[in-house]
Amino acid sequence: MPDPSSQIDALRAQFDRDLAGAAGEPAVRAVRDRYLARKGGLLTALLKNLASAPPEARPLLGRLANDLKGYITTRLAERLAEVAVSRRPAGAVDVTLPGRAPSIGHRHPLTLVREAVETIFARMGFLVIEGPELEDDYHNFEALNMPADHPARDMQDTLYLAAPVRSAAGSPATLLRTHTSGMQIRYLETHQPPVRLIAPGRVYRRDDLDLSHTPMFTQVEGLVVGERVTLADLKGTLFAFLHELFGQERGVRFRPSFFPYTEPSAEVDITCSACGGPGNPATATCGLCKRTGWLEILGSGMVHPAVFEAVGYDPERYTGFAFGMGIERAAILKWGVEDIRLFYENDLRFLEQFPL
Ligand code: DAH
Repeated sequence: MPDPSSQIDALRAQFDRDLAGAAGEPAVRAVRDRYLARKGGLLTALLKNLASAPPEARPLLGRLANDLKGYITTRLAERLAEVAVSRRPAGAVDVTLPGRAPSIGHRHPLTLVREAVETIFARMGFLVIEGPELEDDYHNFEALNMPADHPARDMQDTLYLAAPVRSAAGSPATLLRTHTSGMQIRYLETHQPPVRLIAPGRVYRRDDLDLSHTPMFTQVEGLVVGERVTLADLKGTLFAFLHELFGQERGVRFRPSFFPYTEPSAEVDITCSACGGPGNPATATCGLCKRTGWLEILGSGMVHPAVFEAVGYDPERYTGFAFGMGIERAAILKWGVEDIRLFYENDLRFLEQFPL
């Protein structure tokens, strides 16, 4: 049997090492159990073994062993007091946990398109203006060469107010504007040429909700008036704008059309984002462009002389062009959104898919 007193020394040294390596409260308690447990504790076992030592050695060994027991008990009590001081109070914040990322807001996709449009036109020297959504018949229809009996009024199913609303801007409003084109009249009435503006804003129509219709949507109107403004200016401006908004690779074409307030009038198409445009094999089965390779994006034309007459401009002297584009439609074509209603449901899973 090894020398009992050196056994006692070795156990003290082992205890010191174990306690030094015990960092927190649970570890210190584990050390305590390892040495002092009634069953299987290292010191308990040592004390038991003393019984088998020679009777003359027992008093000394007994004292040494009791010293060690006192030492271990004291050191453990000290360490437990130390770790108790650094223990977190109940409910305390654990500052070592990783932080919770704050959720960052996104701009609405319609805002993104509107801002992109405004940036492009601002760079081309256009003024950005806004006007009333409650409008009168004159600005929404009549001054735009759509008199009361004009069949073009049927093209837009109008939401009329139950009672006229007096406004700061002239005659009482009787309807929710069906397009932003009335802003052409509002601006020309009060300003002299040259004119170069865009007018974004909400418009309203008596439409039921479906994949491609909402009773409220957003348009941007454009108007340029001056001397010697030509169809070439219209084309050049819209080509540059559409290439910037949708990408230089997109094809753009003009297609003859009709609007009462422009002559000649054109609808403008861009090549289909889904199939890549006409000439691509995928066009033959493309649902987005209905196998044409082209998507309609806006209406435009040269300002009708009747519009100039309505605002007191000399149609012999001034010419101009105008255009109107749906912001939702532009967003749909830009990002391949399949349902216009998504823009108004405010589902974050949808809204967060767009750039910040
Ligand atoms: N106002 C038309 C609409 O709501 C769009 C439009 C067409 C505006 C031709 C224009 C234009 O200024 O010249 O569909």
